[in-house]
Amino acid sequence: MTDRELMDMAEAAAKNAYVPYSRFPVGAALECSDGSVFTGCNVENAALGSTICAERTAACKAVSEGHTDFVRIAIWGEGKGYCMPCGACRQFLSEFSTDMDVLCAKAGGRYVSYRLSELMPHTFNY
Ligand code: THU
Repeated sequence: MTDRELMDMAEAAAKNAYVPYSRFPVGAALECSDGSVFTGCNVENAALGSTICAERTAACKAVSEGHTDFVRIAIWGEGKGYCMPCGACRQFLSEFSTDMDVLCAKAGGRYVSYRLSELMPHTFNY
């Protein structure tokens, strides 16, 4: 699968975003080493801190289906800047793989690519 195809899946996932508060839909498409892809969207809550980001939705779907070997994630959002994973999502994803590729899109469809280890060099673990 190409980066663009994975990003297209992330964009499609954003259609289900539950965002009555921010009105900012985010979609994620998480690819595993066997080629399987798990998608997710952000799911907000009136208790705002209980909101779950698109990346963590996708990661929980993957883990709960027995997949933990993440190789690439595409994150789609239509902001002015690239839709970067928040700190909590960086830590959450790094639990499973620190060298996965992270593709981050912005309005218009352009995206940038990083290694998770670049975005989160010193993770918490014990
Ligand atoms: N959001 C994500 O889904 N992923 C991120 O990495 C950053 C933020 C969502 C959470 C909230 O629903 C909306 O973007 C605005 O903060």
